[in-house]
Amino acid sequence: MLHEIHESRLLSPRSFQAGLLDSTYENVLEHIDCGVMLFDEEGVLTFVNARAYGMLEIQRYTLAGCTVVDLLTHLSLSRIKKRQLLHIYRETVYKGKTMYEFMDEYGRYWEVNASFGAGMNGSYLFTFKEISDYKKIEQTAYQNDNLAMLGKLSASIAHEIRNPLTAIRGFIQLLRPHLQGLGKEEYAKIILAEIDRANDIIHEFLSSSKPSSPQAGIISISALLKEVILLTESEVLMKGCQIVLNAIAGELYISVDVKQIKQVLINMIRNALEAISDRLDDTTGRIELGAYREGGEVRIIVSDNGKGMDVCTMSHLFNQFFTTKENGTGLGLSVSDRIIKNHGGRISVSSRINEGTSFVISLPLTPGFTA
Ligand SMILES: Nc1ncnc2c1ncn2[C@@H]1O[C@H](COP(=O)(O)OP(=O)(O)OP(=O)(O)O)[C@@H](O)[C@H]1O
Ligand SMILES: [Mg+2]
Repeated sequence: MLHEIHESRLLSPRSFQAGLLDSTYENVLEHIDCGVMLFDEEGVLTFVNARAYGMLEIQRYTLAGCTVVDLLTHLSLSRIKKRQLLHIYRETVYKGKTMYEFMDEYGRYWEVNASFGAGMNGSYLFTFKEISDYKKIEQTAYQNDNLAMLGKLSASIAHEIRNPLTAIRGFIQLLRPHLQGLGKEEYAKIILAEIDRANDIIHEFLSSSKPSSPQAGIISISALLKEVILLTESEVLMKGCQIVLNAIAGELYISVDVKQIKQVLINMIRNALEAISDRLDDTTGRIELGAYREGGEVRIIVSDNGKGMDVCTMSHLFNQFFTTKENGTGLGLSVSDRIIKNHGGRISVSSRINEGTSFVISLPLTPGFTA
């Protein structure tokens, strides 16, 4: 029976004799980023690392010589931890599962992996890894999937509502002379105006997710950026932030649908403002616009010192309906990306968590107009 536990590390003498664990491996196991617990064939705990006993919120020496049953009745172990261990025991040892997930009393998610059977010479090895971040991403992805479906559904409903509206409009126009005869022409006017309003709302909703083909006009980059600053400045100032235009070398001209490119820049500035408000410290928010020439292209930069974003967010940024905001639709950047692609350009992004984000829009310069 292996009840004599090496108290400082809770490693069985047998493990040492078998040469399974020398001091290097022991160190690795001790400092590894997951909890490790090893029970021998008699069900006695022979190894527990710092992360595992930290998770159990119990002193290591009190675990010396414990069997599974001792653990489940351990005086220093909280009731909630005992319940968690019992569930782990039931799901793995009893039901034979090799993986089990649970949420602890602090809302953290854990994945338990159990190794036993032939390869383990009768021992049971449990590893505990915190997977809260992964769970958060999974939940966001699930939410976004639902939002995407909802978005597509609303787009098709909006589209279908237009047909009966057109029919109603036609019939009201036919009835108009009769209403006039009754002295109720006002009613027809109101109905027509309301139908037109409903049509406008639907048109706006549908075109927000599908930009029309560009109407070209030539504009200088500095004029474009100045106009955009003028349009957004009051919103920026109201939020206690600054917006600045960095000096642009020479006059650069582009042939674009000015309305659409302005929409892209305003989308980016709004995102920047939202990222600044989401920053936890009280750094003054700053949005910088700039542009420079690179060969036959102009690069327009929109940068902020907002909360930044992680790699996962960056990889989904331009997907339709992808949003991390409670009230976001996730259309801003997907529409912007399509507008820029329709102009023969592209958008790239770089970001650092808690430092900020930079969007770079590359667009072809108009030949003959560049000073
Ligand atoms: N400047 C930025 N800083 C940090 N994250 C950003 C920035 N710009 C965009 N993002 C991230 O990209 C996501 C998608 O942006 P997008 O503009 O497409 O949608 P949204 O802002 O969430 O919703 P809306 O359709 O209302 O614009 C945002 O939810 C946010 O997580
Ligand atoms: Mg947005």
